[in-house]
Amino acid sequence: MSPATARFERLSRSPEQTVEFGRRIGAALRPGDFLALHGDLGAGKTTLTRGIAAGLGILDRVASPSYLLCHEYPGPVPFLHLDAYFEARMDGVLADGLVERFAGAVVVAEWAERLGAWLPADRLELELSGQGAERLLRFGASGPESAARLEDLRAALPAPETEGKP
Ligand SMILES: Nc1ncnc2c1ncn2[C@@H]1O[C@H](COP(=O)(O)OP(=O)(O)OP(=O)(O)O)[C@@H](O)[C@H]1O
Ligand SMILES: [Mg+2]
Repeated sequence: MSPATARFERLSRSPEQTVEFGRRIGAALRPGDFLALHGDLGAGKTTLTRGIAAGLGILDRVASPSYLLCHEYPGPVPFLHLDAYFEARMDGVLADGLVERFAGAVVVAEWAERLGAWLPADRLELELSGQGAERLLRFGASGPESAARLEDLRAALPAPETEGKP
């Protein structure tokens, strides 16, 4: 991640708030965007993705794709929800043509670091961490296109009133 990239953070205090963050993120994403999600088991990646799907206008219920590796949701924008937890199996699915479907879709990948060389160079990054009901969401970008979208996300996720104040 370039040091020049303007990262930012948001704190969620409940699963519902994480879904709402996701909804705003989904409304700001565009075809061709790739969002790499990071965080431990139970960090909230699938919870956030439910909101993202809603924000994209997808009406289907979003399930965890852990065992299916990838769900494709039809909607106003094609949406691919990936889970690379089982990285060896994911590798085969990507090599079988999944990677070619990234270009025209919004792609959200759980356990994205396990995608290795399949990971697009220019991508949004989001790490979730925390315990109890709190999750810290750390946003970043790894290239020029994602850096521009990162600013859209920042605008879509109003900062707490304290941010920027001395
Ligand atoms: N602020 C919060 N945001 C999101 N989830 C939260 C929050 N507080 C508590 N939780 C709980 O944490 C769990 C998150 O589960 P979720 O399936 O979204 O995690 P995940 O990162 O997708 O895990 P996995 O790596 O197994 O796919 C849920 O049980 C949810 O209710
Ligand atoms: Mg999950």
